[in-house]
Amino acid sequence: MPAIKSSACGKFILVGEHAVVYGQPAIALPLSNRRITLHIEPQILAPSGKIKVFFPALGLDGEPVDKLPSNHPIYRAVWEVINYLSLSQSPSCDLRFNSQLPIGTGLGSSASMAVATIRGLLEFLGHPLSDAAINKLAFECEKYVHSNPSGVDNTVITYEEPVFYQKGQELVSLKPAADLHFVLADSGIQKSTGETVSGLAERYQTDSALIKPIIESIGQLANSARRAIETGDLAEIAEAINQNQRLLAELELSCPELDHLVNVALESGALAAKLTGGGKGGHILALVKANRVETVLQGLITKGALNPFHTVIRGVI
Ligand code: PMV
Repeated sequence: MPAIKSSACGKFILVGEHAVVYGQPAIALPLSNRRITLHIEPQILAPSGKIKVFFPALGLDGEPVDKLPSNHPIYRAVWEVINYLSLSQSPSCDLRFNSQLPIGTGLGSSASMAVATIRGLLEFLGHPLSDAAINKLAFECEKYVHSNPSGVDNTVITYEEPVFYQKGQELVSLKPAADLHFVLADSGIQKSTGETVSGLAERYQTDSALIKPIIESIGQLANSARRAIETGDLAEIAEAINQNQRLLAELELSCPELDHLVNVALESGALAAKLTGGGKGGHILALVKANRVETVLQGLITKGALNPFHTVIRGVI
């Protein structure tokens, strides 16, 4: 059994987080320059079934996989593969992860860990599967990690392409008409997506007259952003992003630190900015013209953003 290497990208949601959980469409983009990489090394001398996890960013240094919490994405991913292949146990191996992707900050780290592990382990075991099958297994993992996931994270990360995603509908792969430049920046606040999703679910139960129309309006923004991406209408994309931030703030999913970064990005010359992911912390995204990227990065650095970076979604000619 040879050593193998796999990797999975991160993701950011352009429009539609949270609303996507309620069946509205969302647009999610791959973060191809922030990845989780996995090397799997066989341990032929170890007794069968010993899988050890090395993941410096998570403080894991040879932890047996079965000692991880049962809702940990790596634990779940290993279990899903073993179960799918009906194995009683896996051959012994070391799983060595490295991450350029910030963990737990709205950029899809749990789905990325799951996809890298599932894809890598299947190949290591001599059973590579299609993206569709990998996506299904990764979605099963996400169900343990978040409460009631929509499936958007595992989908955009498995296929690593811009997607227009709606639960239960056929996946639409988006073809941007022009390059789209983004700056992302971390608020430094870690917030569990499960908590923000279940917090909104409670409010939906008690105050659906207020929450439902906001969620539907977010769905409409995803539809207009889709058209704008396909026609290369930057002003319309910017409008959808800014409106989406306003609606997320109405849902109380923003916070002062995110509002601050959104304002700094706009004051520094971004066309639009919003939180991305679960909210109440994590990252913002800013849509930026190519010639303003450096200015917006500098503005955010000066005003306290953590590790802002640039990423580009290439237009399809
Ligand atoms: O915070 P992240 O990266 O896990 O993004 C979550 C996106 C949500 O719409 C809030 C939840 C979901 O399952 O779609």
